Amino acid sequence: MPERPRVFVSRRIPSDGLDAIVEACNARVWEDELPPPRDELLRAVEGCDGILTLLTDRVDDELLDRAGAQLKVVSNFAVGFDNVDVAACTRRGIPVGNTPGVLTETTADLAWALLMAAARRVAEGDRFVRAGRWRTWGPMLLMGPDIHGGTLGIVGFGRIGQAVARRAQGFGMTVLYYDTRRADAAIEAALGARFVDLDELLAHSDFVSLHVNLTDETRHLVNASRLASMRSTAVIVNTSRGPVVDQRALFEALRDGVIGAAALDVTDPEPIDADDPLLGLDNCLVVPHIASASRATRGKMAAMAAANLLAGVRGEPLPTSVNPEVRERR
Ligand code: DGY
Repeated sequence: MPERPRVFVSRRIPSDGLDAIVEACNARVWEDELPPPRDELLRAVEGCDGILTLLTDRVDDELLDRAGAQLKVVSNFAVGFDNVDVAACTRRGIPVGNTPGVLTETTADLAWALLMAAARRVAEGDRFVRAGRWRTWGPMLLMGPDIHGGTLGIVGFGRIGQAVARRAQGFGMTVLYYDTRRADAAIEAALGARFVDLDELLAHSDFVSLHVNLTDETRHLVNASRLASMRSTAVIVNTSRGPVVDQRALFEALRDGVIGAAALDVTDPEPIDADDPLLGLDNCLVVPHIASASRATRGKMAAMAAANLLAGVRGEPLPTSVNPEVRERR
């Protein structure tokens, strides 16, 4: 009987994917809640045919060297893959899988929840009540901007950005978007979205939602001068990657009333330091990178990551690969 492929799974993932991996492979699963420390990760991948990684694991030349020349696939349990040096994998002929599509609507749901919660001061109101500060109905208590009828600026108009635009339709909003590539006219028409440059979007939006990949070009895309160009009541929502926003500049902008509020699913670094000054601001809402965390979606992500891993160790094309130019290992 041929030997089963050796794989490392860097965290316990839903059984929708894990069961198939364990059945087909000689699998080691990292059982801790926290990611494997770097030295443990490097040890664990030695001699593996496949690795299933999370966005908390850095996949680079060092790791690929330690894994060894037999490595056939890296399957990332996320749609984002900024934790993976894809070029290094491609150079070695290693396909990299990700999990696009299945988390689009769930992520857009959370972006929308954050937008609404930050605008209508939901977390702040909850803290207010729990602190015993609710003494009467207040005519000016915890006022915020209207969401319906406002202008939403979407930065990054891929699958998730477009799903957020669809939600805005139900709120009668004007939708502006910016991307490096303009969407098809049919998509613009269906979503009632107008393509503008980033400066115009920032200057005219009541709400700005970020949906770009993290790259050298998008790191600190939202910096002090861009924040200064926004409306003083604007709400910014980030469900993309933390470093897309210059977090120090964001703190200063929120503290000084340069913009109205922020809601972050992602921070820089993650987790955000418990002493980070942002957490002392009432107009900043932070949740722990949970945009895709519905039970159904995490199950689908697990199934997709498993399908990529298993295809890779078998030398078959991955169902969803970020470097499709690498067809199969050997
Ligand atoms: C992703 O998939 O890239 C998210 O950030 C986590 O689901």
